Amino acid sequence: MNWEITPPRALKGSVSVPGDKSISHRAALLGALAEGETWVENFLAGADCLATIRCLAAMGVTFEGPDEKGCLVVHGRGRRGLREPADVLDAANSGTTMRLLLGVLAGCPFFSVITGDASLRRRPMGRVVEPLSRMGASIWGRQGGKFAPLAVQGGELEAISYTLPVASAQVKSALLLAGLFARGETRITEPVPTRDHTERMLEQFGAEVRREGNTLCIRGGQGLAGCRVVVPGDISSAAFLMVAAAVVPGSDVTVRGVGINPTRDGIIEVLKQMGADIEISNRGYLGNEPVADIRIRHSRLTGVTIGGEIIPRLIDEIPVLAVAGALAEGETVIKDAGELRVKESDRLETVAAGLKKLGAEVEVMSDGLRIRGGRPLTGTVLQSHGDHRVAMAMAVAGLVARGKTQVQDTACVDVSFPGFVVILNSLRVD
Ligand code: S3P
Repeated sequence: MNWEITPPRALKGSVSVPGDKSISHRAALLGALAEGETWVENFLAGADCLATIRCLAAMGVTFEGPDEKGCLVVHGRGRRGLREPADVLDAANSGTTMRLLLGVLAGCPFFSVITGDASLRRRPMGRVVEPLSRMGASIWGRQGGKFAPLAVQGGELEAISYTLPVASAQVKSALLLAGLFARGETRITEPVPTRDHTERMLEQFGAEVRREGNTLCIRGGQGLAGCRVVVPGDISSAAFLMVAAAVVPGSDVTVRGVGINPTRDGIIEVLKQMGADIEISNRGYLGNEPVADIRIRHSRLTGVTIGGEIIPRLIDEIPVLAVAGALAEGETVIKDAGELRVKESDRLETVAAGLKKLGAEVEVMSDGLRIRGGRPLTGTVLQSHGDHRVAMAMAVAGLVARGKTQVQDTACVDVSFPGFVVILNSLRVD
C-alpha cells in the first residue's frame, strides 16, 4: 500500500485519535492476570495490541471484542491461571508485547517460546532477559539470550533490586509484572523517569506500587482485581496531527481526549518552545490518566535543541519532531536519543534518509540528528522502512513538500494508528 500526498490549502477541524497503544497493551495484560472481568473502552485495535491479545488467548485467556468502538472484555484468569501455550507465541512487530509478556512468562510455571517479525527479532531483548534471569527464570535465545526467538521456563522468582542500564518503560514494566510473581519486594531504579502507565494501572487494579525517588517497589504475591479501564487518545498518534497543523499554513486543528500523562507530554513542551500555538483545554482524568483537548494552529517555528531527561517523554515523537525541525527556522539538534536506533527501524537513519530525499539538510550523529531547517521540501518517493511512525512522519512532510509525495509500504501504520489517512484527510481544506 502507498500514499499519495499533496499539500492542502489548510488543515481544519476537530478530531479524536485511537486509544493509547501503551495503555491498551497494559489493560489487556493486567486484565488477563486479574480475578474477574475487566471492561476496556477505546482499546486500540491496532496490530500491536491485537498481538498481545492473541498471545494471551494462546494461554487460555478469553476476550470479547474489541468491537468497532474499542470495547473489549477480558475474562481474567488470575495470576496463577495462565496455561502453557501449545505453540510459539507471536508478538509480530510489537516490542511492548514481547518485553512485557516476558515479565509474565518468567513467573509462570511452564515452558513457552516467543518470537516476532524480522524487525522485532533484531531488537535487543537482553535488557529484559538479564534481570529476569537474575530473578530465577530460565530464558534462552539467539546470541546468548539477546534476541528472539526466546524460550522461557518460568517458575518461582525471587525479588531483586535492579537499576535499569537504559531508560525503558518496557523493561521497567516487565520487572514490575515479574515482581508480582516474586517472593519479596522487587525494587527497580530508573536512570531517568519513563512512562508510568504500568504503575498507574497496577494501582487501578488494586496493587500497591511504592515510589521512593526514582525507585519503584512492588511486593510479590499481590492479587489484581478486574476493573473498568477507559483508554485515552494516544498522544503519540495525535503528535502527527499536531505537527501537521503547526506546519501547514492556515491550519487550526483540535484533537480531543488525548492522554497528557506528564511522562508522555514532551511533544507539547518542545512544540511550544519552537513557537507553536497550542492551547490545552477540557482537562480531566480517565481512571488514573490525565486527558485534555489539544488545539494547535499554524505558526512559524524556530529550531530547538532536544536532549537529556526529556527524551523518554517524547521518544516516539522524534520522527515527526524531526519533520518540524526541517521546516523550522534555524538549527534543530536532537541528542541523547541513541535508543531510536533500536526501534521498529533505525529511526535516526530512516528519518534522515527521508528528509534528505525531500531536500532537507540533515546530519546523522551517533545518538541524534542535526537538522538545518528552513530549506524548501520537494515531493518525492519515500519509504516507510516498515516503520509505522516513519510512514506517518513522512506523510506529514509531504503535506508541505512542493508537488506530489509518495510514501511506500504504508500498511504498517495499522500497528498504532489505524485510520490515520481517513482522519488526516477529514481535516484537509483543498
Ligand atoms: C513503550 C515504551 C517505549 C516506547 C514504545 C512503547 C511502552 O519503549 O518507545 O513505543 O509501552 O512501554 P522503550 O521501553 O523501549 O523505551
